[in-house]
Amino acid sequence: MRDFKGKTAFITGGASGIGLGLAQTFADAGMNIVIADIEAPVLGAAVSALNARGAQAIGVECDVGDRASYARAADRAFSAFGKVHLLCNNAGVARTGPTWEIVDSDWEWTIGVNLMGMVHGLQIFVPHMKAHGETSHIVTTSSMAGMRSSVAGGPYTATKYAVVGLSEVLAKELAETKIGVSVFCPNNIRSNMPNNGRNRPPRFGGPIDSKSDPHAAEHVVVMQDRNRAGMDPREAGLRVKAGIENDQLFIFSHATERGILEERFQRILGDMDAAAALGPQGALLNRA
Ligand SMILES: NC(=O)c1ccc[n+]([C@@H]2O[C@H](COP(=O)([O-])OP(=O)(O)OC[C@H]3O[C@@H](n4cnc5c(N)ncnc54)[C@H](O)[C@@H]3O)[C@@H](O)[C@H]2O)c1
Repeated sequence: MRDFKGKTAFITGGASGIGLGLAQTFADAGMNIVIADIEAPVLGAAVSALNARGAQAIGVECDVGDRASYARAADRAFSAFGKVHLLCNNAGVARTGPTWEIVDSDWEWTIGVNLMGMVHGLQIFVPHMKAHGETSHIVTTSSMAGMRSSVAGGPYTATKYAVVGLSEVLAKELAETKIGVSVFCPNNIRSNMPNNGRNRPPRFGGPIDSKSDPHAAEHVVVMQDRNRAGMDPREAGLRVKAGIENDQLFIFSHATERGILEERFQRILGDMDAAAALGPQGALLNRA
């Protein structure tokens, strides 16, 4: 997708951090903006700031992990602007701590936002984009944690790998359509992510005060330091826009992470070589 002017972007988690950077980028490119976010007060301020820059923007309170809430937000977008051409599945949360100690409700919260948030978006917007038939794009914010394991915790890494896989499937499924697919794998971007527990809904236990939570406290300090030194979210937005224009499946923020990926791929290939060294199918049974 290269032509953004007059089209509409639907951005989940667009009231803060990377999502707001995306909203500013696509507003500057002449798009109508719908921000769907769970954090109502910040949402209002983000929309006012966008409109003050001359954008046509609306904000819709939405919990992407709740299909009915998502469907209501999409209906608001359709009423306001008719068609949606760019879906940014961006809302995300992270529950940290030793994987085996994370309780089911926190797994459900993380899977609900990071994975089902994307699924709900696809269920609503892919049929819509196919029906209007205009050039469109779906970009999902994964993470470098979707490319290699990290200290960010089991549920976060599992869901970020999941949306990379899902984006690869989607790209194949939509290859013959006018809908492009990308997955954004950022490293450190300045945002409110270290305090993401602020948005845990009551059905999963309510907001988490990261500083007083033994699961999160240690990791949050590391996250805060990295986050503060991170990339400006508007730069991240511009990099995502460039990736969409190039029709890239993978969009990275930091090329400095290349070595870490090479290491992982070498390990995978090395373990594949170990399987090859054992011989073809049946070789071990024949030798037994
Ligand atoms: N900041 C980084 O360094 C970094 C790195 C890799 C990946 N990411 C990913 O980037 C995305 C954006 O995060 P960010 O860093 O900008 O953090 P952020 O906390 O600043 O923004 C996240 C936004 O998502 C919203 N949100 C949370 N739960 C929601 C829900 N259930 N429904 C709708 N909206 C919800 C929040 O209100 C917030 O506006 C996330 O998917 C995150 O995993 C961030």
